[in-house]
Amino acid sequence: MKINHELSDKLIENERHYFSSAARIEYFNLVIESAHNATLTDVDGNTYLDLLASASAANVGHNQPTVVEAIQKQAAKLIHYTPGYFHHQPEQILAERLSKMAPGSSPKKVSFGNSGSDANDGIIKYARAYTKRPYVVSFINAYHGSTFGALSLSALTTNMSKGVGPLLPDVIHVPFPDLYRRNEGESDDDVANRYFTYFKQIFDHYLSPEETACVIVEPIQGDAGIIKAPALYFNLVYDFCRQHGILFADDEINQGLGRSGHMWGIENYPGIEPDLISTGKSLASGMPLSAVIGKSEIMDSLASSGHVFTTAANPVCCAASLATLDILEKQNLAAKSLKDGFYVKKKFTELQKLYPTIGDIRMFGLNGGIELVDNPHDKNPNPELANKIIFYAFQHGVLLITLGGNVLRFQPPLTITRAELDHALLVLKKAFKAAHNNQIQIPSKLQAMGW
Ligand SMILES: Cc1ncc(COP(=O)(O)O)c(C=O)c1O
Repeated sequence: MKINHELSDKLIENERHYFSSAARIEYFNLVIESAHNATLTDVDGNTYLDLLASASAANVGHNQPTVVEAIQKQAAKLIHYTPGYFHHQPEQILAERLSKMAPGSSPKKVSFGNSGSDANDGIIKYARAYTKRPYVVSFINAYHGSTFGALSLSALTTNMSKGVGPLLPDVIHVPFPDLYRRNEGESDDDVANRYFTYFKQIFDHYLSPEETACVIVEPIQGDAGIIKAPALYFNLVYDFCRQHGILFADDEINQGLGRSGHMWGIENYPGIEPDLISTGKSLASGMPLSAVIGKSEIMDSLASSGHVFTTAANPVCCAASLATLDILEKQNLAAKSLKDGFYVKKKFTELQKLYPTIGDIRMFGLNGGIELVDNPHDKNPNPELANKIIFYAFQHGVLLITLGGNVLRFQPPLTITRAELDHALLVLKKAFKAAHNNQIQIPSKLQAMGW
């Protein structure tokens, strides 16, 4: 099957005159016209199975009818009034609901924003205000967003930050554990202990714990390639934070809301109650809404007007969010995600036997990073192969992108059907066959796809 992109190509050619290249990471010429559940339709009339879910912003499916209805009803009543001065009910109901559904038993409060990035800026503000300490610790390969605060927390690629500095001072990055490239003979616990030694070295040599406001984690590193820390590692970091009055902050923007097989990504690590949480993306099914959820005394420490946005807590977005949360809970999508994740992992494991260039299969719910390498022994990244696979998939109606160049990102809407999953997996199987038979030629303009 060859897909015709004539109209998409034309529209994109025109857009190039007007749209800043900094605001996009280039992949394929796809102009999306409409979407339903896991299926996208482009302006040329082609359909695609979406294994990206709009960067994990469509966990309950695209244009979920209940969400659409909630948006329409709310838009007819009140499109917006700023929460900076007054109140509306969708915001009040959602604040209470998020406070109560956040992990852990401590009372919580909420503030709203428009993007995941501004929620992470909020985390820095609340943590500094509460602890009266300046430093923030984050991780190498983290992605926390694109505003100055969130960008300063991130450490994924210099493409994001070159030419725009200086960034926020007093942010220190430490290495994140890598179970795939462990030393010979190391157990998960050994890896956890080794990386905790690196973490502690920072505090032993140049960062005083008494000056550290918070450590911010992605419970599973998303843009780094869906990388999960060994449980012991997070427990050690969490205990260290507790001992030194450092807040433990949890970025759930990518991994929350059922994605990782739990409502919250941090629930992959029992016994941890974050002090602060950021959420966004799927919170309102992709409508612009984010939230910081934190322990009440921490949220009370930042005085008015420390975190106010005119268009935060938009009532239409809040209504979309309440409907989204209903679907997540009623359809128990976290459990479905977990179950489907095991299924997909099994399928990729079968494929790995045929194609050992599939080096590592990291699936935590419908939340996968399939790492492609030259060979399983030296584990050298193989971005050429990854690009061929996603290009073939796109040409055959399955949309996925890469992470870190050589990792296939597998994050479909959690509502994707088993038949759709099977179809997507079949196309990927054919893609590996075609790639290994040298049958995939990528157009030269697509050779620099990705971050
Ligand atoms: C873990 C994580 N944090 C923060 C963000 C930033 O969210 P936004 O793009 O909505 O600002 C992202 C976006 O990809 C993310 O994956």
